[in-house]
Amino acid sequence: MIDKIKEHIALVEAFSTATKAEVEDFRIKYLGSKGLLKEFFAAFKNVNDDQKKEFGQVVNTLKNAAQDKVTSLKEHIDASQEISGVYGDLSRPGAPISLGSRHPISIVKNKITSIFSNIGFNVSEGPEIEDDWHNFTALNLPEYHPARDMQDTFFVQTNPDVLLRTHTSSVQVRYMEDNQPPIRTISPGRVYRNEAISARSHCFFHQVEGLYVDKGVSFADLKQTLEFFTTEMFGKSKIRLRPSYFPFTEPSAEVDVYWGLETETDYKITKGTGWLEIMGCGMVDPNVLKNCGIDPEIYSGFAFGMGIDRIAMLLHQ
Ligand code: PHE
Repeated sequence: MIDKIKEHIALVEAFSTATKAEVEDFRIKYLGSKGLLKEFFAAFKNVNDDQKKEFGQVVNTLKNAAQDKVTSLKEHIDASQEISGVYGDLSRPGAPISLGSRHPISIVKNKITSIFSNIGFNVSEGPEIEDDWHNFTALNLPEYHPARDMQDTFFVQTNPDVLLRTHTSSVQVRYMEDNQPPIRTISPGRVYRNEAISARSHCFFHQVEGLYVDKGVSFADLKQTLEFFTTEMFGKSKIRLRPSYFPFTEPSAEVDVYWGLETETDYKITKGTGWLEIMGCGMVDPNVLKNCGIDPEIYSGFAFGMGIDRIAMLLHQ
């Protein structure tokens, strides 16, 4: 009998499985209510007195070995299921995800911001829902100013003080309120105007506006900056400035870049003139500087602003 039990101890110690069902069968076989251990313990009373001590020891050894085996096999199976369970092996390298592509508007915006950051401009951003002061009044567009009609505005609810910004000049106002010159910043962002939607225009679109304020900034600096920009952006350095009007700049100009008339597409996009209108610009009106807490007796500046959706259409067909 003792030898038989010792054989079982060896079997128990050698036992191994990877399934919970087999562990359970094993447990029932040894530790179950009709299991082998029950049998051996029941046999104890019939064992000769001189063997009782050894018998008791081997049965207990078998019992402990069986219990330890069940516990350790269960732990092992649980741990390996965590790794290869519903999530698979969490330590495996990820499956490669094929790259997406950037939207043409983002490509153009990034190109513009990198050109200007190369010459010392930083990027500033502001809220798309604006108040009247930052979008209009601070920019020399008081209430009832007819030039407000240039920018058909979406108002938020019925409050005329809360609106969707019509240009990112509002960000420049915020920037000047928070910073003293020297200022070199460009403000990219989405803007909104209540205009008819067509293949060439939408009621929301994207702008990049620029602002440079320092001592002694002149119109010549503006022109040089724009020339640098068009050369970097389009590979075209010939520009012309046509007199124009914006309430926040004086003097103001419209910037055309000479695109050329080499291909049929050139004819189409320049309407047969070879010139392409790309932005508005001008010297910041002293009133605007004053409104934003900058002394126009000491400082002057230039500003420009362009819509980037058409540029994106142009460059990406
Ligand atoms: N804010 C003007 C617009 O949205 C563009 C502009 C910016 C013009 C700065 C001049 C100077 O049309």
